[in-house]
Amino acid sequence: MKKLLKNNTYWVGKVDWELRRFHGDELSTNSGSTYNSYLVKEEKTVLIDTVWAPYAKEFVGNLSEEVRLDSIDYIIANHGEVDHSGSLPLLMEQIPDTPIYCSANAVKSLKGQYHRDWNFNVVKTGDRLSVGNGKELIFVEMPMLHWPDSMAAYLTGDNILFSNDAFGQHYANIALFNDGVDQNVLMYEAMKYFANIINPFSPMLRRKLDEIASLNLQIDMIATSHGVIWRDDPMQIVKKYAEWAADYQEDQITVVYDTMWNGTRTLADTIAEGIRSADPKVAVKVFNITKSDVNDVITEVFRSKTVVIGSPTISRSILHSIAGFLHLVKELKFRNKSAAAFGCYGWSGEGVGELNKLLQDAGFRLIDPGFRNMWNPDGDALDKAHEFGKKIAAGQAAAQ
Ligand code: FEO
Repeated sequence: MKKLLKNNTYWVGKVDWELRRFHGDELSTNSGSTYNSYLVKEEKTVLIDTVWAPYAKEFVGNLSEEVRLDSIDYIIANHGEVDHSGSLPLLMEQIPDTPIYCSANAVKSLKGQYHRDWNFNVVKTGDRLSVGNGKELIFVEMPMLHWPDSMAAYLTGDNILFSNDAFGQHYANIALFNDGVDQNVLMYEAMKYFANIINPFSPMLRRKLDEIASLNLQIDMIATSHGVIWRDDPMQIVKKYAEWAADYQEDQITVVYDTMWNGTRTLADTIAEGIRSADPKVAVKVFNITKSDVNDVITEVFRSKTVVIGSPTISRSILHSIAGFLHLVKELKFRNKSAAAFGCYGWSGEGVGELNKLLQDAGFRLIDPGFRNMWNPDGDALDKAHEFGKKIAAGQAAAQ
């Protein structure tokens, strides 16, 4: 069922309350998601993006109740990823000659995925497409936000920016607009989306935000491709993105560990107490990575100034849970954050050294050589772990 955005522009997407994993199994979506597709019905009828392939039949069926499919003049494909382009094959079976406006890279991604030679019309930043009634779509390429093919489109007259993935959130809702949902959940999901998807491209994002600002566009709505449409103070999310893209951190230290027989777990708890005793103002959070949602922990890393990572030594190395987590941390290219490592061992004790290497390789600034404890921590070792926690707090203070 369509929902009105403004004047002659409607949402015709899909709310996916059930979605819990995205990008295969890579990303948790605990609040579900939406695939936002938009229909502009001016003198020309324009469809902007579609929905994920499993909902193609439902989408095309619903769309055909809102508009005669052969009356669609233009399709805008802002991004080729399957959650937005997945209904194109079914739709294009019915309207095979309808022009698809997209970036040059989107031609590659759409052809690469669907192996169809549709009527592609390549657009670049600044190109305009008249939709009638004096309104135009202006295209803005958004390469690496978050694919090379990504693009946004701006509807003049109504001042709506169709931003695709940028400014989105995996947040199923029927309110449609940002003023109709729980603000805490909204901002958390927006931050999680940024931390887990957008952060590696922060330098490009900073340049793109400057470029969009230089266009002096009046933006009344930001219609993303996931989650709510920003209509109440839409620039609030643009300001947040500028903040988040500038090596964001809060006054938080996050401890992430895995443990075999609870020795490293005991160290984690004690180190956290030590940090807290040295700095009562800092937020300290502790996660066993095997019992936590990895993408939520990534969001905590994103907001932290320091991370403390623990693993016992196993086979002269570290547990694969922590190795996998640090692999993801490295991919996401966090910058200007400090780190330290800890862990128990029984024999050779290579774990902390391995953690140090991985942390440095992921771009973190080591503020301590790390804390190793042979066998289970007793009273003396716990005192040392507590002191180590105090040093982490103080080390961070010195590094600021
Ligand atoms: Fe929501 Fe990059 O697709």
